[in-house]
Amino acid sequence: MSSDKPCEKGNGRRGFCKACIGAMTAASTAMVGYPVVSFVISQPSRIGEDKPLEVPIDQLTLGQARYEQWRGLQVIILATADGPMVFSASCPHLGCAVGWDTADSVFRCPCHGAVFTAQGEVVSGPVSDSLKQIPFEIKDGKIIITA
Ligand code: FES
Repeated sequence: MSSDKPCEKGNGRRGFCKACIGAMTAASTAMVGYPVVSFVISQPSRIGEDKPLEVPIDQLTLGQARYEQWRGLQVIILATADGPMVFSASCPHLGCAVGWDTADSVFRCPCHGAVFTAQGEVVSGPVSDSLKQIPFEIKDGKIIITA
């Protein structure tokens, strides 16, 4: 009879230790698993980022710029008499978003006053590089930007 008590106590301690190890394992799993699961769950919103940007040409107006978001970039599609042109809106100086000035037919950077032609070339300002042109193709009446 007395030999059962130590065994029971041993099982009690062993059980307690197992419970503690189980709790620590569960806590560790939760600490590692929660961020991993959260990351995986948040991914569906990024799935569409690989899709090309498609803009119907008939939605463009000659001499006007259209702004689009694509893969985290602000993209400007400018409808010119020679056809559409696509630029990154990021100013090559320090990255401010340039805007299209319809009245003067130039891009203007609001941060330090850089001015660019409709072809993205530098007119004036503290910048030496042109606006970055984004390659595109025209297919089925749409401008398609893939890269
Ligand atoms: S960021 Fe455009 S001129 Fe400085």
